[in-house]
Amino acid sequence: MTSTERKGAATVSTGLAPELDAFYQVLQRRRDVRGEFTGEPVPDDVLDRVLGAAHSAPSVGLSQPWDFVLVRSEQTRETFREHVRSERDVFADSLTGERSQTFAKIKVEGVLESSLGVVVTYDPSRGSPAVLGRHAIADAGLYSVCLAIQNLWLAATAEGLGVGWVSFYREEFLASLVGLPDGVRPVAWLCLGPVSELADTPDLERHGWRRRRPLSEAVHHERYDG
Ligand SMILES: Cc1cc2nc3c(=O)[nH]c(=O)nc-3n(C[C@H](O)[C@H](O)[C@H](O)COP(=O)(O)O)c2cc1C
Repeated sequence: MTSTERKGAATVSTGLAPELDAFYQVLQRRRDVRGEFTGEPVPDDVLDRVLGAAHSAPSVGLSQPWDFVLVRSEQTRETFREHVRSERDVFADSLTGERSQTFAKIKVEGVLESSLGVVVTYDPSRGSPAVLGRHAIADAGLYSVCLAIQNLWLAATAEGLGVGWVSFYREEFLASLVGLPDGVRPVAWLCLGPVSELADTPDLERHGWRRRRPLSEAVHHERYDG
C-alpha cells in the first residue's frame, strides 16, 4: 500500500507503507515554533505521553541523566522572558550591517505565548562514577539529554503541538530561577503548547538568516574530504 504527502497544495505519492509514511511526515512537519503558539493548555494525558517519549530515549550507560521541570507560573515565565530579551540584546550588539538588520526581524522565543515551559536538565552524577560508555567522552551524557529532547519534540509534533527551543540564557540564571541543585545543568528551555499551524519552512530560512543545505553536502564517503 502506498501513501501520499502534502507538497504545497498538491499531494504526491510517496510509495511508502502508511505507518512508515506517517513517521517520515512527523520528521518533516517538526518545526521550531516561536510565533504560532495559541496559549491553550497542554492536556495532561498528552503531556504524559510526550514526556514518556522523552524518557524512553537512549542514554549512555542507561544513565537517564535528564529531568524535566514543568514551568506554568506566569511570573517565572515573565522573569525568564526578560532575561532572554537581555541576552537577545547581547547577541544583537555583536552584529553589524545586513546581519543586524536581518536579526532584528527574527523572533527567538515564545516563552509567554506558549502555555508551558519545560526546562530539560542534565545531571552528570546520575549513575556515576562508572557510567558505561562515558569514560572517554564526557559529552556523551549531554548527547543523551539532547536525544530525550528530540524524542519530546517529535512526539509533540505527532500530537499536533509545537516546541520552541530557547537557548538565549545564561546557565546560572536559569539554574537559580528553577532551583537546580549544584552540578545539575539546564540544557534547554522548551516552549510547549498547542499551535495555530506548523510552518513549512524554518523561521531562519524564511527571514533570510540561513538556508538549509542539501543532504548530498553533508554525506561523505570513507573520509571527510571524500
Ligand atoms: C540547541 C538548539 C538551540 C536553539 N536555540 C534557539 C533559540 O534560542 N531561539 C530560537 O528561536 N530558536 C532556537 N533553536 C531553533 C533553531 O533555530 C531551529 O531548529 C533551526 O532554525 C531549524 O528550524 P526548524 O527546527 O524549524 O527545522 C535552537 C535549536 C537547537 C537545536
